[in-house]
Amino acid sequence: MSNALKEYLTSAQNRVERALDARLPSENILPQKLHQAMRYSVLEGGKRMRPMLTYCTGKTLGLPADVLDGPACAVEFIHVYSLIHDDLPAMDDDDLRRGKPTSHIAFDEATAILTGDALQALAFEVLANDPSIIVDANSRIKMITTLTKASGSQGMVGGQAIDLESVGTKLTLPELENMHIHKTGALIRASVNMAALAKPDIDPNIAKKLDHYAKCIGLSFQVKDDILDQESDTSTLGKTQGKDQQNDKPTYPALLGLTGAKQKAQDLHEQALESLSNFGTEADLLRDLSLYIIQRDH
Ligand code: IPE
Ligand code: IPE
Ligand code: MG
Ligand code: MG
Ligand code: MG
Repeated sequence: MSNALKEYLTSAQNRVERALDARLPSENILPQKLHQAMRYSVLEGGKRMRPMLTYCTGKTLGLPADVLDGPACAVEFIHVYSLIHDDLPAMDDDDLRRGKPTSHIAFDEATAILTGDALQALAFEVLANDPSIIVDANSRIKMITTLTKASGSQGMVGGQAIDLESVGTKLTLPELENMHIHKTGALIRASVNMAALAKPDIDPNIAKKLDHYAKCIGLSFQVKDDILDQESDTSTLGKTQGKDQQNDKPTYPALLGLTGAKQKAQDLHEQALESLSNFGTEADLLRDLSLYIIQRDH
């Protein structure tokens, strides 16, 4: 990771931690257990990759970070809700997440379900109301539409449905790609596109290139997640290594082998760079993030 990216990510990470904290209800407000569980799952931990993408896209477009706090928090709330539900016994049945017991282990299953539900609602409340978002109502509605579509049955939730239906079956490569594009790619794409929507006068060609970049890294992110599940270890990952094989999940390494999966991640990184070929140094953070996504160790 370049020094410039390291520095920027550290400042953006501090920023999003404060912004998330400020938008979560206090543990002293009723119902206390639910609010405790929301704060437990969102705060302390997580790479914050989706908020980082929102801020880095904004920086590429010359936007100040404070106008992006709303979308950055909203996408992270949806992401954490998706992780809480993904870990439930009815889904992947995981007991470790971000180095801590999963929500249904630390609290109970009903609380974990409700915590996910509440975070989803909070995400859209933030997009609808947050004073940090200064675009006009039309652009705000476009942001809301972008995140709802990316979250729902034709986005993340749809991808999760395909994932669960596919357990124990052998998907073709296009089917696997389709699953990954939905379950993980959609939210990553929304993280970038919401930043583009924060600049209503953006050149449509620039917006299109950014969207293509986001599609490539959205897929490479899940390809790398599959690789790490196979070759990393539980303490580095902060989640149980080897669960995909144990749960008989269709993954890139299962279909292509580790070498094939790594080649796929590299190809996607190169495609992501190609999408940014008309951008100058202002897009270096996005180039670095794409490389980080395929080189990360957790
Ligand atoms: C894990 O996402 C789940 C996927 C969609 C692959 P992250 O790897 O971004 O998890 P955190 O937010 O850093 O914990
Ligand atoms: C999850 O994919 C994607 C989500 C929408 C949460 P995984 O099931 O591979 O994520 P991890 O490995 O549990 O983080
Ligand atoms: Mg899963
Ligand atoms: Mg999982
Ligand atoms: Mg995984």
